[in-house]
Amino acid sequence: MQIVFRISRQTLDCAQIFQDYTIEVDKSKTILDCLNQIKWTLDGTLAFRKNCRNTICGSCAIKVNGIASLACKENVGHFIDENIDNSSNIIEVTPLGNFPLIKDLVVDMRKFWENLEAISPYVKIKSTPEREFLQTEQERDKLNQTSNCISCGACYSECNAIMVNSEFVGPHALAKAQRLLGDSRDTATAERLQEYGQSITGVWGCTRCYQCNSVCPMDVEPMEQIGLIKQKILKTQQSKETRAVRHRRVLVDLVEQGGWIDERKFGLLVVGNNFRDIKGLASLFPLGIRMLLTGKFPGIFHPSQGVQEVSALIKSVKATIKKDDSRN
Ligand code: SF4
Ligand code: SF4
Ligand code: FES
Repeated sequence: MQIVFRISRQTLDCAQIFQDYTIEVDKSKTILDCLNQIKWTLDGTLAFRKNCRNTICGSCAIKVNGIASLACKENVGHFIDENIDNSSNIIEVTPLGNFPLIKDLVVDMRKFWENLEAISPYVKIKSTPEREFLQTEQERDKLNQTSNCISCGACYSECNAIMVNSEFVGPHALAKAQRLLGDSRDTATAERLQEYGQSITGVWGCTRCYQCNSVCPMDVEPMEQIGLIKQKILKTQQSKETRAVRHRRVLVDLVEQGGWIDERKFGLLVVGNNFRDIKGLASLFPLGIRMLLTGKFPGIFHPSQGVQEVSALIKSVKATIKKDDSRN
């Protein structure tokens, strides 16, 4: 069948133009096969990256019809509509987003690699063992998904956080960060959690837009990996039980018990730390007296309607989190 490839052409000092190339191809051919055919038979000046042709090296990522894809993985059939006239089947090919351009479909990936370097993407150990490291099968299995990353840049290209926040290290780097946190040989967990929890550069910079998960050709699911790091950071903070952490825990516990918050207990448990923080308790007195005098202090607590349902929901969420924690 005849297919029109509409390809973005641009050099550093020129405006972008689109050039059409019509080629005869089978729908089973990959987009990379088609780009090669165009380059070898129609226009030798077209620039794009490629290497393994087998979804291993990550070099050939580009945008096809606006979506970041691996050119050697996607085939023509995926992008055409067989019910319309062949000449109307146009496949648009553009460079990855969020990267400066070098030429045509070739982008400058320096920042991508620098960001990866920023998360210390190697196992850190306190002392070198006399013999090789041993890992159980289960310990190794935990690394399978994140180790599948081929650093293609598709997730970085579509990342909404990168688009607006140049400090954010990106989904590829944080997926690698989770790979290292999950590695039984690594001894730098505390230092890593501190580093990855930096406000806008680390995990909290992610807007949870899901784009990285949807384009990753290796099913690394970077957004899920970011979620796992967040859970680990929060767990560390919980073990320190700061007032902010206690605030969140007490709030959930009280809603689980009564369907809504029992105001009589809330301050005592959070600020007074269940009668352990004398200074905190003392600070509550003026407020308590003001509430009593204005009739705002609830003498009796009435659970909300549907409390069993609320309680069951919270219990089920807690059980899921516990299960996830034990898996990771
Ligand atoms: S996480 Fe997926 S999309 Fe991102 S660089 Fe790795 S393989 Fe590519
Ligand atoms: S989910 Fe987060 S990391 Fe993934 S693309 Fe969206 S903002 Fe970027
Ligand atoms: S050429 Fe290596 S992943 Fe496509």
